[in-house]
Amino acid sequence: MNEPIRLQKYLAQCGVASRRTCEKFILSGKIAVDGTTVTEMGTKIVPGKNKVTCSGKLIKNKEKHLYYLLNKPKGYVTTLSDPQGRPVVISLIKNVSARLFPVGRLDLDTEGALILTNDGLLAQKIQHPSNETRKTYEAIIRGHLQPAASAALENGILLEGKMTAPAKITILSRKGGNTLVKITIHEGRKRQVRKMFSHINHPVVHLKRTAYGKLFLGNIPSGKYRQLNPGDLKKIFL
Ligand code: URA
Repeated sequence: MNEPIRLQKYLAQCGVASRRTCEKFILSGKIAVDGTTVTEMGTKIVPGKNKVTCSGKLIKNKEKHLYYLLNKPKGYVTTLSDPQGRPVVISLIKNVSARLFPVGRLDLDTEGALILTNDGLLAQKIQHPSNETRKTYEAIIRGHLQPAASAALENGILLEGKMTAPAKITILSRKGGNTLVKITIHEGRKRQVRKMFSHINHPVVHLKRTAYGKLFLGNIPSGKYRQLNPGDLKKIFL
């Protein structure tokens, strides 16, 4: 017999929505357990025993969780569809019937590591600020980055009215008038890396995410992916 589990956690696990959205569904009376509407947040159910419905539709717990690490090419959008008809990252994953979605976003012009999954809880865990999941990027920036400017970024700068959290920057090499740097941040503001370097007058000319925590992109070719195992998933949070 399965262990009792909180209703909102069960709903999120079944891929209904994020846990927070599932809580809203409960409060708004959309969820019923064994035919009775439940609006009480502490309610627990036993998967496989209790019948849970959302707006009258039976919730099934049988979708297996799948995890992929994609090397996103430039020119692809990380939304599930695009009104402008640009290619979507999800179209790169072949022969998988699960409803995958990208965890977070990468800009159109950014390439590199992108996790795709149908596990709403893991996606939430990776993105929740309290977990401070580290994301590492290699950036080619215009100009020669000086240690003082690098230190300023590492300590935090005022970006759109809010200080950035501490970052780790390593200068890897200089190429012509540009610098190749490695930067690790744990925030996920929109276009954050580009904005941080623009702020110190070193605009980014090329950006690639190379790792989530200690889960490295490695030698996955552009546009290709590999399936992740439980050991890989642990590395995200190291
Ligand atoms: N920071 C950016 O500027 N762009 C990305 O795609 C990711 C992080």
